[in-house]
Amino acid sequence: MKVGIIGSGYVGLVAAACFSEMGNDIVCVDVDQSKIEKLKEGIIPIYEPGLSALVRGNVSKGSLRFSIDINDALSVSEVVFIAVGTPMGDDGSADLKYVLQVAQSIGENMKSNLVIVNKSTVPVGTADKVKETVQSALNNRNSNLRFNVVSNPEFLKEGAAINDFMHPDRVVVGADDESAMQLMRNLYDPFTFSNDRFIGMDIRSAEMTKYAANAMLATKISFINEIANICESVGADVNHVRTGIGSDRRIGYQFIYPGCGYGGSCFPKDVQALVNIANDHGYNPELISSVERVNKAQKQVLFSKLVGQFGDNLKGKKIAVWGLSFKPETDDMREAPSIDLIQSIVKAGGEVSAYDPKAMDEAKFYLKHIKVNYCNDKYTTLDDADALILVTEWKEFRSPNFALIKSKMHGNLFIDGRNQFKSDYIQSKGFKYIQIGVKS
Ligand SMILES: NC(=O)c1ccc[n+]([C@@H]2O[C@H](COP(=O)([O-])OP(=O)(O)OC[C@H]3O[C@@H](n4cnc5c(N)ncnc54)[C@H](O)[C@@H]3O)[C@@H](O)[C@H]2O)c1
Repeated sequence: MKVGIIGSGYVGLVAAACFSEMGNDIVCVDVDQSKIEKLKEGIIPIYEPGLSALVRGNVSKGSLRFSIDINDALSVSEVVFIAVGTPMGDDGSADLKYVLQVAQSIGENMKSNLVIVNKSTVPVGTADKVKETVQSALNNRNSNLRFNVVSNPEFLKEGAAINDFMHPDRVVVGADDESAMQLMRNLYDPFTFSNDRFIGMDIRSAEMTKYAANAMLATKISFINEIANICESVGADVNHVRTGIGSDRRIGYQFIYPGCGYGGSCFPKDVQALVNIANDHGYNPELISSVERVNKAQKQVLFSKLVGQFGDNLKGKKIAVWGLSFKPETDDMREAPSIDLIQSIVKAGGEVSAYDPKAMDEAKFYLKHIKVNYCNDKYTTLDDADALILVTEWKEFRSPNFALIKSKMHGNLFIDGRNQFKSDYIQSKGFKYIQIGVKS
């Protein structure tokens, strides 16, 4: 199939790479000229395991092309995906300006009948707005070309995006036209070959499914973080409580790991957008509103543990921070808990030395107004450090050389934002070990 993908970020690029891998002809478009130039040279602007090989392989086969001109996609494609960002607007709602700009430009430039697929995460009712925008641009051209708008939310996880796209748990498609639905089935059949996981529905339900999924996952995280905080107050250990409840199959172990709050480009903005969508329709979503409030507070939990040990004036204190990206296996720093932590430490007068396996450049951008000593490896952050704080659970932090850590540090405080280790073990190495959800 000939497919255009507008937007070459995490979602657009992964979709382009995976669709082309299945033998489709893809033109991937972005307005960011430098991004497209890099992609043409085989330089992948983001860190995502497996993506680079897939992109390079399909570019060399000629099944994947990049362009800054939407006409290059519209002149050949029978289906075009919108995969641009929908950032949080000032009022917390999803900002649709990029989606509607693309819709406008599709209407102004489309050359044949088209299926337009919205893959960006968008509020319920956005397909109608896209439809109106395209139709009015076609009317202005006196064109009687026809098109269908389809919703196909994306559920990939950064860090495992290729595997998620290639082997999806489900493919959700909302369409109000049988031929458009059939085209989407044909496009996704190779991904759900062994076991049909295609779920067709109406457009509004598909748009809502994405928000409901992210709200559920965010709720699980905020739930366990709240339980962790109660555990600390009552003298229980959340590590035991987590396994105690996760063993119930109705609850399960996934997404009930206590930590320092969720971040990333999706949960914070999508939870907030869902609250706004509900409010706009006269409903007050009390549970989902508190999920976000709990998360904001949780992002301060590591700093308050530090203050609990050193007091609120950190002048003269050197703090080593391990892990900056919002989760392992990505360089994405959007809404990362490390940002809140580092800002708070520096504001309180402390010095930060930080290391992340992949996100150092992104971190320098997101923390550009804050003085941070970026180190080339994890052990260098520890020179004379009073405390070590583990924020992101990259694999290389799972079994470090504790004797070396101890010998480099000035103090012995180890605050673990991901509860990676057994307390007795770390204490036996001579550290004061502080976890989330365990009284210290
Ligand atoms: N990142 C994820 O893990 C993830 C997962 C599922 C869904 N989503 C959703 O998918 C959408 C895209 O997310 P992302 O993380 O890929 O965003 P991103 O910011 O990484 O990429 C968006 C890209 O769109 C480009 N763009 C903006 N306007 C354009 C235009 N008019 N024409 C062409 N390109 C344009 C930008 O330059 C950018 O490269 C969002 O709605 C997001 O919520 C993201």
